[in-house]
Amino acid sequence: MSTTDRTTDLGLPELPAEPYPAEVAARLAHDAQEIIARYPQSRSALLPLLHLVQAEEGFVSRTGIRWCAEQLGLTTAEVTAVATFYTMYRRRPAGRYHVGVCTNTLCAVLGGDQIFAELQQHLGIGNNETTEDGQVSLEHIECNAACDYAPVVMVNWEFFDNQTPDSARQLVDDLRAGAEVRPTRGARLCSFKETARILAGFPDERPGAVDEGGAGGAPSLAGLRLARGESLPGTEPRRIVAPRHEHDDSDGRSDGTEGAGA
Ligand code: FES
Repeated sequence: MSTTDRTTDLGLPELPAEPYPAEVAARLAHDAQEIIARYPQSRSALLPLLHLVQAEEGFVSRTGIRWCAEQLGLTTAEVTAVATFYTMYRRRPAGRYHVGVCTNTLCAVLGGDQIFAELQQHLGIGNNETTEDGQVSLEHIECNAACDYAPVVMVNWEFFDNQTPDSARQLVDDLRAGAEVRPTRGARLCSFKETARILAGFPDERPGAVDEGGAGGAPSLAGLRLARGESLPGTEPRRIVAPRHEHDDSDGRSDGTEGAGA
């Protein structure tokens, strides 16, 4: 097996890579300067620079890895190590809409596995593949800390809560048809590349989009209320768990009990 075959099989970038065309390199270098200037050490800018590469190409290509290394004075091995560690960096081109189906434990048992299987069949693509029209790519993803809305589907990292196989099929059909699709929470969708540019640290220029940012929903905030010693909405107004700081007794107890024999 050749080196090229091995790297392709593993989804790893083939190195050394071609440079970007001069026009692209100049435009990206301008953006990179702005990003790097935000950090006391330039290497700290690697994560946003990788998002910037995805904003350009829809994934982190071997050319993008070379470019990041050159901007930051790193080796391509160092950049590759980071780009292949974090799952938000794609090694294959994303569609205009990147659909992630959570198949981690809670979502899986509540229907995530079924949703993922049916979307693969409906779209005719496998994990990490893109439809022929370039509109939708599919990936099974790990827990997105939205278990209280399981099973969860994400499109370009925006949440679509409490999904079913039917609703997920309708979702991808609407995306491919160009219909307006609104996430359950958060701003209206933009393309994967536009999302990547925002993640690189550039402002969302769409009028009103920033104000559409979602907050935690009631189920997500229930635990916070309990931690504060508050009762949950719709329940008897009494303290269920006392806040920790109220029971920092000098004898070290923090469970709210009185001392034995007191
Ligand atoms: S298991 Fe799916 S969001 Fe946590």
